[in-house]
Amino acid sequence: MATHNVVAIVGSLRKESFSLKIAHALAKLAPASLQLEVTTLHGISFFNQDLEAAPPADWLAFREKLQKSNGVLFVTPEYNRSIPGVLKNAIDVGSRPYGKSWFLGKPVGIVSNSPGPLGGVSAAKHLQNILPGIAGPILGQPEIYLNAVGDAFDDKGQLTKESLQKVLQQYIDAFAAFVEKHNK
Ligand SMILES: Cc1cc2nc3c(=O)[nH]c(=O)nc-3n(C[C@H](O)[C@H](O)[C@H](O)COP(=O)(O)O)c2cc1C
Repeated sequence: MATHNVVAIVGSLRKESFSLKIAHALAKLAPASLQLEVTTLHGISFFNQDLEAAPPADWLAFREKLQKSNGVLFVTPEYNRSIPGVLKNAIDVGSRPYGKSWFLGKPVGIVSNSPGPLGGVSAAKHLQNILPGIAGPILGQPEIYLNAVGDAFDDKGQLTKESLQKVLQQYIDAFAAFVEKHNK
């Protein structure tokens, strides 16, 4: 069975980010057919269309990473009922030049999370609005909005909450099958 490489984009820059820890947990739980490259958005320049004539090296590296991938998995918190600005900026960078989105055709997964009760569902819904015109198919089921993630990890960042591990396992298995289906 072929291994598919997926860019797991983390929507938070925070060192102790729950989103980052969840992305690493998913990478560990992923079946052998799926390799997750956990990617943070440090150092991605603000999108400015004027720079397209000579794009900055960080844009080129990010775009190349997307191009080489077999899919994209977003793991993100919710900021003020939407996605964090750094994530929107990276999506803008990856979506241009016009008509040449680097996400095009890539199967997409969306994992939102929050230490609060609502699991970042608004952030996930906003991604579902943003992506259809610039990316490939989005995994619709299972949906995953992870709430109460604040007590899910030990002080080394290892996942300790069994209920969370179970839903992450279900999700990543379904996502691996989805990526496989869309890379035939
Ligand atoms: C600017 C800002 C806005 C936030 N807005 C929301 C929100 O709308 N919904 C929510 O559930 N949590 C919200 N939070 C709390 C985040 O879920 C929490 O800080 C979380 O730990 C951030 O994700 P991270 O751990 O991956 O960095 C907000 C946090 C910040 C800093």
